[in-house]
Amino acid sequence: MKSHMHPVKMFLQYLLLFLMLPLCSSTNTITPNQPFRDGDLLVSKQSRFALGFFSPRNSTLRYIGVWYNTIREQTVVWILNRDHPINDNSGVLSVNTFGNLLLHRGNTHVWSTNVSISSVNATVAQLLDTGNLVLIQNDDKRVVWQSFDHPTDTMLPHMKLGLDRRTGLNRFLTSWKSPEDPGTGEYSFKLDVNGSPQLFLSMGSKWIWRMGPWNCLGFVGVPEMLTTFIFDIRFWNTGDEVSMEFTLVNSSTFSSIKLGSDGLYQRYTLDERNRQLVAIWSAARDPCDNYGRCGLNSNCDVYTGAGFECTCLAGFEPKSQRDWSLRDGSGGCVRIQGTNTCRSGEGFIKIAGVKPPDASTARVNESLNLEGCKKECLNDCNCRAYTSADVSTGGSGCLSWYGDLMDIGTLAQGGQDLFVRVDAIILGMRSYLQN
Ligand SMILES: *[C@@H]1O[C@H](CO)[C@@H](O)[C@H](O)[C@H]1NC(C)=O
Ligand SMILES: *[C@@H]1O[C@H](CO)[C@@H](O)[C@H](O)[C@H]1NC(C)=O
Ligand SMILES: *[C@@H]1O[C@H](CO)[C@@H](O)[C@H](O)[C@H]1NC(C)=O
Ligand SMILES: *[C@@H]1O[C@H](CO)[C@@H](O)[C@H](O)[C@H]1NC(C)=O
Ligand SMILES: *[C@@H]1O[C@H](CO)[C@@H](O)[C@H](O)[C@H]1NC(C)=O
Repeated sequence: MKSHMHPVKMFLQYLLLFLMLPLCSSTNTITPNQPFRDGDLLVSKQSRFALGFFSPRNSTLRYIGVWYNTIREQTVVWILNRDHPINDNSGVLSVNTFGNLLLHRGNTHVWSTNVSISSVNATVAQLLDTGNLVLIQNDDKRVVWQSFDHPTDTMLPHMKLGLDRRTGLNRFLTSWKSPEDPGTGEYSFKLDVNGSPQLFLSMGSKWIWRMGPWNCLGFVGVPEMLTTFIFDIRFWNTGDEVSMEFTLVNSSTFSSIKLGSDGLYQRYTLDERNRQLVAIWSAARDPCDNYGRCGLNSNCDVYTGAGFECTCLAGFEPKSQRDWSLRDGSGGCVRIQGTNTCRSGEGFIKIAGVKPPDASTARVNESLNLEGCKKECLNDCNCRAYTSADVSTGGSGCLSWYGDLMDIGTLAQGGQDLFVRVDAIILGMRSYLQN
């Protein structure tokens, strides 16, 4: 009988267990008087997102992360200390007297927001229902720091990617190192502001997929991404910023983008009934999505049925016939010897439905129409191709290229017309064939 616990004692133990639960209770703010310890949970007002310490699969290291609070499998969307893990449970996140959010372990500072705030004890950290962790100044309610400005591998609705020209801050996604290691990995998804701004998926410094320039309907490289879909894409290119964000058309749906540690860029939606995320779209699925697959001055087209997706643009020939016959197009194409495309009856031929060439080397002129664009391009012997900058109004603005053309690809749907400079002979042949 001695080995059995006394009922009252048992009851007291249950009671104790019950009383202990509120210790790990959830709040939605961190204040100077209310530090946040390993085991605590910060939950947004409508319980959509939670912030807490976690360990990745097969790891004992501790990270502070934000995850969806409404799905079954813990899915982290943001990490505070991805490159500075803590190796035990003694990490504390607090707001210090200078108003900064600070992660420390004993006396060791692990991470800090490091913003300058004028008054002491004057800020509070809060997790919003968008998944954004914000540091707010009490008196004027100004956000002095936000996690959305420092993305990890996930893009959430209302989060902006791109450059804030006023502060120089460039926000982009970076993959985890591996599913077990959330440290900064080698893949990134980033806005390049040269020429006409484009989003690139990169591995290290190597571009592997180009989302194409914004043509006012969407990003050319993603024709499926119509603005009438479940989300709205917005794009700004002003003196203050070059950035993009997406918002949801129906706020009771949910969607996000994740850059996997394997470089896979995927869009997810929330299946509420089963409380899980479902991948609905992923980038770079066809060979022509690979940046520079067919080298310079060529078009990549998997829909020709020819078995080889690379073709040189009119007036160009493979740089290496041998590689080309071995179906390696990466060497690209060069102008056929003896062709004259300068003030000798040259003109342009149209390639329909393509992702225009890499626009980081393009010249942009918003005030020209397509006819004006053609004229400008024809007048400069170095101008090799042109297209509309804005296709939403049936074609306005001008993008033109003054050198080799890179990464043109025929798209299954959407795409736009590209006009490529050819000599008088090809021009004549084309018009003969077309009549
Ligand atoms: C700020 O908060 C700390 C911790 O609660 C407290 O010790 C200190 O007196 C406060 N300082 C001011 C100026 O209110
Ligand atoms: C992670 O843990 C699982 C199950 O414990 C094991 O099967 C797997 O091999 C581990 N992976 C690594 C990379 O250690
Ligand atoms: C904090 O910011 C200051 C200037 O704003 C900078 O000099 C310092 O290096 C930063 N410290 C850390 C740890 O980022
Ligand atoms: C928004 O989505 C919810 C849930 O899927 C649906 O019940 C509702 O009808 C939708 N509202 C609109 C305006 O489409
Ligand atoms: C655009 O083209 C017009 C007409 O040629 C020219 O006057 C203007 O300077 C150009 N703008 C830019 C930004 O190049």
